[in-house]
Amino acid sequence: MQDNIWSDFAKSYDQMIPELNCYQRMLRKILRDTEGRRTVIDAGCGTGLVSRALIDHGHEVIGFDNNAAMLRLARDKRAAAPGEARDRWTVMAGRVERFPSRVASDADAVVLINVLFYVRDAETALREAFSHLKPGGVMIATGPKRRPDLQKVLRHSIAEWQAEGRYTEALQAAVAHHTTCARRLTTDPNEMVTFFQVDELVETLRRLGYSRPLVEDGDDYYGENYYVCMQR
Ligand SMILES: C[S@@+](CC[C@H](N)C(=O)[O-])C[C@H]1O[C@@H](n2cnc3c(N)ncnc32)[C@H](O)[C@@H]1O
Repeated sequence: MQDNIWSDFAKSYDQMIPELNCYQRMLRKILRDTEGRRTVIDAGCGTGLVSRALIDHGHEVIGFDNNAAMLRLARDKRAAAPGEARDRWTVMAGRVERFPSRVASDADAVVLINVLFYVRDAETALREAFSHLKPGGVMIATGPKRRPDLQKVLRHSIAEWQAEGRYTEALQAAVAHHTTCARRLTTDPNEMVTFFQVDELVETLRRLGYSRPLVEDGDDYYGENYYVCMQR
């Protein structure tokens, strides 16, 4: 298990990230594009935010991550879920470059949400996703198109929170902590390593054997992020 920047990030992650309107908009797209697809692998599940939304929508979810602090929060969410939901939700340690052996090899969907930009060998992770999907299953990947302009995302988000009257002291404290971590992320060249333009990612996926894109856009996070949903 890695003790990296995410150990520190985990502290403010759940206080701030689900509050971001841009995160919630992306989450709605994920729920739309996994609709009717029962088993979903949440690769790089972090604190389990996406997993929990999928669980709430009736999916079976297998989530894994390589950071103990993030994973602890995912385990807490699972533990707090009703018994029936807990039975549909598996959380474990694992790397996206080599999915844990317990992960289903015939999933209906694999989601890699804001993970690939931390992965040096992203193609290996995309191959792993492919090999864990049943034919017709979908892979959803999101992330920044270039070294992200976190200040831009925060500026827009804070303006939205202020307009909605919910930029509370707790949220301001979470933003301050997040900004400190993010400064490390954006200045350390070893932290954010892989970015994709939408076309480039779709081309890469075709080369790896995926058949066709169902959604391909660069609209999320105020135009900073790609969102690609590709069918096996
Ligand atoms: C921005 S967070 C996203 C978490 C979650 N997918 C979400 O949308 O809330 C990135 C996550 O990727 C995880 N991660 C980074 N590299 C990884 C790897 N090689 N294998 C597994 N997880 C990884 C980090 O530990 C962190 O939890």
